[in-house]
Amino acid sequence: MSHPKLDDVTVLADKETLAYEAARRFVALAQASIQARGAFHVALAGGSTPKRLHELLASAPFREQLDWSRVKVFFGDERFVPPDDPESNVAMARRSLLDHVDIPAEQVFPFPTVGTTPEAAAEQYARTLLSVLGDPPVLDLILLGMGEDGHTASLFPGHPEVTHPSGNWVAAVHEAPKPPSTRLTLTYATIKAARHITVLVSGQGKAEALEHIFQDNTDHTQWPVRGIYPANGEITWLVDQEAASTL
Ligand code: 6PG
Repeated sequence: MSHPKLDDVTVLADKETLAYEAARRFVALAQASIQARGAFHVALAGGSTPKRLHELLASAPFREQLDWSRVKVFFGDERFVPPDDPESNVAMARRSLLDHVDIPAEQVFPFPTVGTTPEAAAEQYARTLLSVLGDPPVLDLILLGMGEDGHTASLFPGHPEVTHPSGNWVAAVHEAPKPPSTRLTLTYATIKAARHITVLVSGQGKAEALEHIFQDNTDHTQWPVRGIYPANGEITWLVDQEAASTL
């Protein structure tokens, strides 16, 4: 089984420089995807780290460098809350990016989180991925964050989808240690199918997890982001100096 490699890590001076480099790479990947296939299919990350990246993409010079009408936006995971809930990942994405760029509304694909169950929502989102991206659902770019326990998206240590992958493209998550506890997540299968994966890691609090994740003898079931690597594509870890202090 492959595992994270230090050769895939780029260390940036600080959180702002990391966001700027992530924006630069996002635009470059988008332009290349649009050039090659006429579209750019990206899954945004949740949590707080991507917020500054979103703000940069929504402003000059980056916003004007991209034909947003060619972009389709998905999500790596979602909290099972209404889309206007302060905890919602799609709400954060709309506030910091999607409401500020000319992306057609029908090209944003939030997880369904109202009037359904987590399991039915996961099945519905998998159908959406397959209908828009084909089978297998290959995204051009998946952005991911990482928690201090090594979780990524909503793949948490010791959880069923991590210890015994379902083989589905999307999974429902219960009793997540990071509130809100009920979530939806892309699975390892979908993440690994992507053409490019970018993991964004910032802050001293993430340093210990990175140390474990880049050691050869640790297990992805304890450090789930360790199980992230592309089947055929590329992976880049953008890490600021505080988080990289143990590498
Ligand atoms: C979520 C995220 C989660 C996040 C990490 C890092 O919905 O919470 O998908 O995986 O990326 O927990 O969160 P921060 O960026 O806030 O540190």
